Amino acid sequence: MRHGFNYSIINELKRIMKKTNIYIFCSKAQLKDYFNIFAEENIDLLVWHKTNPIPAIANNYLSDLEYCFFAREKGVEVHCTYDNSSKMYESPMNKKDKEKFRHPTIKPLPFVKRLINNSSNEGDIVLDCFSGSGTTCVAAKELNRQYIGIEIDPEYHKISVDRLEGILANGQTSMFIS
Ligand SMILES: C[S@@+](CC[C@H](N)C(=O)[O-])C[C@H]1O[C@@H](n2cnc3c(N)ncnc32)[C@H](O)[C@@H]1O
Repeated sequence: MRHGFNYSIINELKRIMKKTNIYIFCSKAQLKDYFNIFAEENIDLLVWHKTNPIPAIANNYLSDLEYCFFAREKGVEVHCTYDNSSKMYESPMNKKDKEKFRHPTIKPLPFVKRLINNSSNEGDIVLDCFSGSGTTCVAAKELNRQYIGIEIDPEYHKISVDRLEGILANGQTSMFIS
């Protein structure tokens, strides 16, 4: 365990992916570890820039960035167009979604959809093993991907299932584990 995270799961994720193709929302402290762990891969750092951050305390920059580490193996494509290839996604903190889906660190659905759209094809399986209020699964379902979500907290699990039930299935396989 380091910086609040058990990195052994990364080996398991590498084991089950056909080719490494992974986005990890993480803290600034964890970034150095990920750059080391994925040193052999093609890596990028994406950021969610929050345009309405809490004012900073003296002697500090604003806490207005969330980091999303991206690693892909050689040969894994990103289907970027000029409009969806910025490494920065800008939006206010999604207070409405936070209240609606009662998760303190909910991610913006349009940003997660952009990542899934750029890095997978229809019918692919998207896995989020820390899925919170289910944003990744919702994005995957809306984009006609299959998805596997895993969430340890029964309350967030229920919120996710309710959220997912609101979207038409289009016949794809879905799985959600608590
Ligand atoms: C940063 S949040 C994910 C937020 C999510 N992206 C969203 O938009 O709602 C991480 C989630 O991982 C869950 N979690 C923590 N440890 C876990 C574990 N061992 N297995 C599954 N889920 C876990 C937490 O309960 C939390 O909801």
